[in-house]
Amino acid sequence: MYLNLVGINHHITPVNIRERAAVRRSRVQDALEALKKTAAHCVILSTCNRTEIYTVENHNQEKERAGLFFLKKYLHVPESILSEYAYFCSGAAAAEHLFGVAGGLDSMIVGECEVLGQVKRALASAEEAGTANLPLRRLFQASIRTGRRIRKETEISRNHLSVSSIAVELAVQSLGDLARCRILIIGAGEAGKGAVLAAREKNAGDILVASRTLERASALARVLRGTAIKFDDIPAILGSCDLVVACADAGGTIINSHQVAQALQKRNGSPQVIIDIAVPRNVDPDAGLIDNVSLYNIDDLNLISEKNHQLRKRELIKARRIIREERERFLSWWRSFSVSPVIFALMEKANRIRDAYFDKTLKKLPTLSDEERHSLEKMTEVIVTRLLQDTVDMLKENSNRDGQYSRLVSQLFRLDCEVSQ
Ligand SMILES: NC(=O)c1ccc[n+]([C@@H]2O[C@H](COP(=O)([O-])OP(=O)(O)OC[C@H]3O[C@@H](n4cnc5c(N)ncnc54)[C@H](OP(=O)(O)O)[C@@H]3O)[C@@H](O)[C@H]2O)c1
Repeated sequence: MYLNLVGINHHITPVNIRERAAVRRSRVQDALEALKKTAAHCVILSTCNRTEIYTVENHNQEKERAGLFFLKKYLHVPESILSEYAYFCSGAAAAEHLFGVAGGLDSMIVGECEVLGQVKRALASAEEAGTANLPLRRLFQASIRTGRRIRKETEISRNHLSVSSIAVELAVQSLGDLARCRILIIGAGEAGKGAVLAAREKNAGDILVASRTLERASALARVLRGTAIKFDDIPAILGSCDLVVACADAGGTIINSHQVAQALQKRNGSPQVIIDIAVPRNVDPDAGLIDNVSLYNIDDLNLISEKNHQLRKRELIKARRIIREERERFLSWWRSFSVSPVIFALMEKANRIRDAYFDKTLKKLPTLSDEERHSLEKMTEVIVTRLLQDTVDMLKENSNRDGQYSRLVSQLFRLDCEVSQ
């Protein structure tokens, strides 16, 4: 059995490419349905920083990995992009990578907490689609435990930074005091809520919230003392806003450059800052070419997040130790799991033979009392277990040898079972 990972992430892949491989929350079930045609056991983890496909496969498909096939055929990511940006790993390396992701070590904002929720959601979606088998379930549960431990046992998540809060930090750097600014937040999901909260913490004065569903915008606005506006009113209201934070999971552009140009005409030369943290992006990149418009995307937050990264360096050492511990714990489980079909088949065959000869013997001894019969049965059970104990122990002890011992035992005892690697 092989654990494989195929992914692309923010470390080397810019947002204009990453957004092509993004699987939006509303599309995850369809995507899993498509992926399971080539990999029955799979999980898709898609966040603003990464799209990763985890699969557990029976054969080592080095050449045509199911995750890669999915990115090519379902998401239509061109081969040229994949060969330049995609990464692959398997087994222990894939588990260690996921543990780092869940711990926030791989995020643009090191230590951010949102990714832990995204990892949980990825597993829940796979459970719903019926694509999470036992190893994947254990892997993701172990990663969630790792993520929690890292946040509890280290200071990596101190200050509760998030992409949304860093976006607001960038806005403060550009605009100064937010108290006199009108701010429009587009999107009332997790990212939108984070942006409104961060803006409130910076004493922002006038906050408008727009979401596709007005009730959702109203609910967020109510809690955080903002004003909900209709999605369709965004173009009309745009000119009055000093700052726009766009974070709707719309799958593409909500504001085009023409709308921004028109909005700017109403601002009498006053600058406007637009921070688009959505992936795929919500604002046409050409809007950044318009005079007095400062348009930032999620990758532009890198500079601020780099400072955060330096501050948290010491905590990274502690976090990596936790990841190593959890990786060993998971691998030890994986090894005994991988030999369990052989152990099961061995015990099953031995007990089948025992049962048959036991019944045969009983027929020749009709006068046995219940007690004598029970003692005889116990004795045969102990003989079988004791005789096979060394073989079972040897299988467990050598379970990390690519199925070598499993194959040997399976051949020696002529077992009818699939041997995992
Ligand atoms: N969560 C994070 O920490 C985070 C961080 C950085 C960037 N982002 C990016 O921010 C975006 C939103 O993420 P999220 O986690 O906040 O998602 P979310 O909690 O699922 O919220 C989704 C938001 O997008 C809106 N939406 C969904 N489908 C839409 C469509 N077809 N057209 C217009 N609006 C639509 C929803 O509107 P209604 O529900 O009102 O219909 C809601 O306001 C994504 O692009 C994500 O990559 C998220």
